[in-house]
Order: sequence, then C-alpha cells, then structure tokens
Amino acid sequence: MSDRVKEVVEAIVGGVRGALADTRVTADEYRAAIGYLQETAQNGELPLMIDVFFNIAIVENENSMHAGTQSDLQGPYYLPDAPFVDGEIKTMDEFEGKPVLVRGTVTDTDGQPVADAVLDIWQSTPDGKYSGIHDDIPVDYYRGKVRTAEDGSYTVRTTEPVPYQIPAQGKTGALLRAMGSHTWRPAHIHFKVNKEGYHPITLQAYFEGGDYVGDDCCSGKCNQGQNVIPEKYEDDVRIMEVDIVMDSASAQAA
Ligand SMILES: [Fe+2]
Repeated sequence: MSDRVKEVVEAIVGGVRGALADTRVTADEYRAAIGYLQETAQNGELPLMIDVFFNIAIVENENSMHAGTQSDLQGPYYLPDAPFVDGEIKTMDEFEGKPVLVRGTVTDTDGQPVADAVLDIWQSTPDGKYSGIHDDIPVDYYRGKVRTAEDGSYTVRTTEPVPYQIPAQGKTGALLRAMGSHTWRPAHIHFKVNKEGYHPITLQAYFEGGDYVGDDCCSGKCNQGQNVIPEKYEDDVRIMEVDIVMDSASAQAA
C-alpha cells in the first residue's frame, strides 16, 4: 500500500463526492459526464482538459515551497533546446511584428544580483503559433536563451506575441463554452529561469491593456493580477520590464 496514493486519492474522491452532492447531480447527468470524459480521452484531449482546470493548483503548491517570484503555468509549448541568442530573438521577416524589448534584473531574496542565471524565453509568432510545434516553423525562431550579467541584468529584443486560442474544436473547448467561458489566452511571453543552487522559476509576462488579461481561459497568474507588465514605450518600442527574485534552493519553505 502507498500512504501517499491513499492520502491523495481519498482527498480527491471526498472532494468530488462533496461537489456532486452539493450540486445534486442526477443519474442522467452522471452518465452523460462519464460519456463526455470517455470521448475526451478517445480524442486525446484528456491532458488538455486536466491542465485547463487543475494545472494552476499544482503551480501554487510548488510556489508555496519557496520564496521569491511566484511561478506561473508552463503551458504545453516549452521545448528545451532553444539556442542561446545575443540580445535578439530570431523572428520571421514575413511578419511585421511590433518590436518589444524585454529586460530586467534577477536578484536573490536578499536583493543581491544573480549573475549567470539562464533565462529560457519562448513566445508565439505574431499570428499566434509556436515554433517547433506549429506550421513547421524552425525551432530557433521565437525562442532563445540569455544569461544575466554580473549585475543580474538581462536584455533581449523580440516582437510582440498575440492572444491565441487553446485547441477550441474539441471537448475541452465545448465544455468551456458551455460554461460561458472561452478558449482564449492573453498575449504573453514565457520564461524559465535557472541557476544552480536556486529554485527554478517558470513565468509568463502579460501585456497590460491586452485582450483577455485577467480573463485567461487557463487561469494563468494574470487572472490574479500578477505578472501584468505596465504599458511603457521607449522610441515606439514596447518595454517589458520583468524583474525576477530567486530563492536559494537550500532555503526552507516559506
Ligand atoms: Fe503560451
């Protein structure tokens, strides 16, 4: 017997039984729901449906184990092999993407700079696709890694991502619409920040004023008002200032 399996499964079963009782779910509704889940699984959408509703809870669990910047959803489009770039993420000439300068500082919880941290950055094209995933876009576009300097700073140029839909035609999209919700995510730039000896951080930076900011179908941190970067321009370039605080991996849970 696994004590952990018993603990987790009994808690989930108790929670679901409570919800079924609270909402007085009928036998017909129960059978319909099982059929719906079966079709979702047969269509390969069960991971998507689970992520849409529950991934944020796991992110919050991980966040409770360290201080510093709170992580956000990673999403399904991270690829580990993005190239290191020299101050500029490769973008496609066929798009006239709006220029964006992403910059900031990585510090520790004492406010000291964290040098040589690796920021792995990925984002959508200006038409809402991800390289290495959609349309045969080469994986070195719209992805790149940069290192922080001695003072903890980093800077990288890119173009503005756009809001995009999660897969909308399947059972997950239909369920969201049946709930009066939708399948859109606000425009965002993804980050993973790693430095040996520190808890890694996974972030999304959102554009203040953008569509679906605060109404993310996947319950990203913008729905809590976090990581929404104030609108700011320098010479017509949108500036995204994203400062990150890393907690030492040896530190105890907050
Ligand atoms: Fe994304």
